Amino acid sequence: MQREHFGALPDGQEVERYVLRSGRLEAAVLTYGAVLQSMCAPDASGSVADVALGYDDLDGYLADTTYVGAVVGRFANRIANGRFELDGVEHVLPQNNGDACLHGGPGGFHASVWKAREVTGGVELSLTSPDGDMGFPGTLTATVTYVLDEDGLTVGYTAETDRPTVVNLTNHAYWNLDGEGTVEDHVLELPAPRFVAVDAGLIPTGIEPVDGTPMDFRAPRRIGENLRSATDQLLHALGYDHAWVYEDSEDGGLQLGARVRGPRSGRVLEVLTDQPSVQFYSGNFLDGSVVGRGGRAWRQGDGFCLETQHLPDSPNQPDFPSTVLRPGERYDTRTVFRFSAGGAS
Ligand code: BGC
Repeated sequence: MQREHFGALPDGQEVERYVLRSGRLEAAVLTYGAVLQSMCAPDASGSVADVALGYDDLDGYLADTTYVGAVVGRFANRIANGRFELDGVEHVLPQNNGDACLHGGPGGFHASVWKAREVTGGVELSLTSPDGDMGFPGTLTATVTYVLDEDGLTVGYTAETDRPTVVNLTNHAYWNLDGEGTVEDHVLELPAPRFVAVDAGLIPTGIEPVDGTPMDFRAPRRIGENLRSATDQLLHALGYDHAWVYEDSEDGGLQLGARVRGPRSGRVLEVLTDQPSVQFYSGNFLDGSVVGRGGRAWRQGDGFCLETQHLPDSPNQPDFPSTVLRPGERYDTRTVFRFSAGGAS
């Protein structure tokens, strides 16, 4: 493994970049935001491309508005009105997305410098978020471990708290399996029978079946096939930006959350997770105002996210699986991004 200096924050905190290699795969991870900065994978002919959007330098990450590659927390996705009640006490969070608190607030995990420690095959990043950080109760000690083997990247998350709190961690990588060009021709499979329907503020209104809707990806489909359907769900989000909800896995272990294929390269990404949902976000808010690696401005369709996580706004939704973490309990979850290469089509 290689360790490099990546830059320093205005307050002097140093940021490092770790490069993990295994077989033909190479992943780069930053101590800023626990960001997956790059993920290089071969196609069937051996040609390697970077399949994760990212910036060349730290300034890109400091100015970022897209959460590219970052670990988001303490609570990925939206919490309605920036408020939730736990054990009869109301907690008030920053409202950084309309009325909602998005991705743990503006000073969330994506904007924190993590401590790094090398582990077998990868790197473990750790962070202590103090009691009251971004309004969340409890001192939360979190780790994120990136381990690369020749099949893919395993991301493990743990957290412990000293007071009852809520936790929902994920990685916010934007993928483009062809390296560049539109992802609308990528073929996506999401083996989930239901999704979380949302209102115009992208706050849950209920869990609905995918049957007969543009949300049905149980059989593989081009991302672009129904992207322009004028249904309320797609209009609310300017595209896909929803949580697909899986049946419980039999043993609580990993199950297939998504399979995607880049048509020009034939590269395939499989996402395996123990989490109850995957937020598939088709990069709707990339509007050409952000310039990424190699000086390219990102526009709608340049990348998509598959964020394994609990359901949005769970702290305010008594019918959703619980995201409460209490002292003595351990949050411990895992997602695998597995890469392979078939043929181009
Ligand atoms: C959310 C989008 C949001 C984006 C920010 C995604 O996880 O679902 O609504 O705009 O993050 O980059």
